[in-house]
Amino acid sequence: MNIATSSEPTITVEIDDIQSGALHHRPTPYVGKYVFLRVDDRHAGRDLLRRLLPTIDSGLPTPNPNHDAWVAVAFTWNGLHALGVPQDSLDSFPLEFRQGMAARAEAIGDVGDSAPANWEPPFGTPDVHLAISAIAPDQARLEAALARARTALSERPGVAVIWEQDVHLLPTGRTTLGFKDGISYPSIEGTGIPGSNPQEAPVKAGEFILGYPDETGNLPPMPQPEVLGRNGTYAAIRKLHTRVAAWRQYLSANSASPEEEALLAAKMIGRWPSGAPLVLSPEQDDPELGADYRRNNDFLYRADDDRGFKCPAGAHIRRVNPRDADIIGQTRLHRIIRRGTTYGPPLPEGVLDDDGADRGLIGVFLGAHLDRQFEFIKIDWVNDGNFIGYLGEKDPVAGQTHGTGIMTIPEQPIRRRIQDLPSFVVTRGGEYGFIPGLRALRWLADLET
Ligand code: HEM
Repeated sequence: MNIATSSEPTITVEIDDIQSGALHHRPTPYVGKYVFLRVDDRHAGRDLLRRLLPTIDSGLPTPNPNHDAWVAVAFTWNGLHALGVPQDSLDSFPLEFRQGMAARAEAIGDVGDSAPANWEPPFGTPDVHLAISAIAPDQARLEAALARARTALSERPGVAVIWEQDVHLLPTGRTTLGFKDGISYPSIEGTGIPGSNPQEAPVKAGEFILGYPDETGNLPPMPQPEVLGRNGTYAAIRKLHTRVAAWRQYLSANSASPEEEALLAAKMIGRWPSGAPLVLSPEQDDPELGADYRRNNDFLYRADDDRGFKCPAGAHIRRVNPRDADIIGQTRLHRIIRRGTTYGPPLPEGVLDDDGADRGLIGVFLGAHLDRQFEFIKIDWVNDGNFIGYLGEKDPVAGQTHGTGIMTIPEQPIRRRIQDLPSFVVTRGGEYGFIPGLRALRWLADLET
């Protein structure tokens, strides 16, 4: 496909063959559901796929409001195996995908409470085969999308629903820790879909979609046959429990006033609760800026805050996307697309005691290279501080700090160093999924092995 008019960007990527959920930003507000399935009989699995196919939208723009809701499907390596994908094709997937996230846990920092031994079933077991997500701007449209998928998902012998998770934007419009999310995302070259930072050039399509050159100028390794790999992408799917009471207790214990507390939390995240970035509003929150999508991600670090006096180099958003920072390596090789959604009830404002409820984030991180995108970010940027010159420091929000975390906050005349950071996030489970293109889905449904 090659659509171009004088006012529109050139579309060079086959967006009509890419799953909408892989390409399009989720709506705000949103409600959604994730479902995991196990395929016990390959013929039943393929039959389910055939019935599911009409419910899966492509990335083509459409004026139909029902299409604000999308259904997407991903497969684990075990799932492809269960569907009867031939062995030479299974062998052509990258090692980390074949192994699955549980096998990579130690390297990516899922240890202690976050170790696979403590994961919520069926995460990390060979039973997770298909992951289906349905996300919509409201309950009515979610129900409509689910109704479309329900016929396909109705229980039949040979296929079983083994896990379900509802997600929703909290009434506050924030995540469980109290911060707005989903602000920063890259533009994918050739899709016509704009990114949120006007200062970031579109990232080569091959960083996110298989079958196109990536930032190195090469085609990313693609599973075979081509019909299966092309227009697909990988997803790291994570259930991340947030320890909100511990977060509030830590902020309160390390601050002398509510204002100091708010500033400390912002220094750890890199943004204020409204989403206003510290780089553009270093002293206090600016809800108008936070709500303005044209301005709330329009900044760089080297140019705007080289020494981190506004946003520390160790802040979550600066670690996971250092933008133009002067660090070793090319930051553009480690971009990911996030499809994060919130689950569980909010912890009421002002409550400092844990109420035992499960709340957090279903994080979905997309890219064509699990190893140098999701895994690299986890290993080198979230759970290591070397790259910013802070040996031994980890991401204060998403890092596995286990009560011994440290974070340096540059300040005049001397820097502040906060200590004894607990882990505020516990991994409840994770899976690597492959999100095939639409032709590939048909190929999978029509397998004759
Ligand atoms: C429960 C754990 C986490 C929480 C509460 C959290 C929270 C946030 C928040 C509030 C933002 C700012 C919103 C935005 O810029 O769009 C953000 C941005 C981001 N997060 Fe996380 N995050 C978590 C885990 C992770 C993990 C594990 C990764 C990577 C593997 C990650 C990668 C990112 C990226 C790439 C951005 C955008 C940064 C930018 O482009 O400036 N996050 N996160």
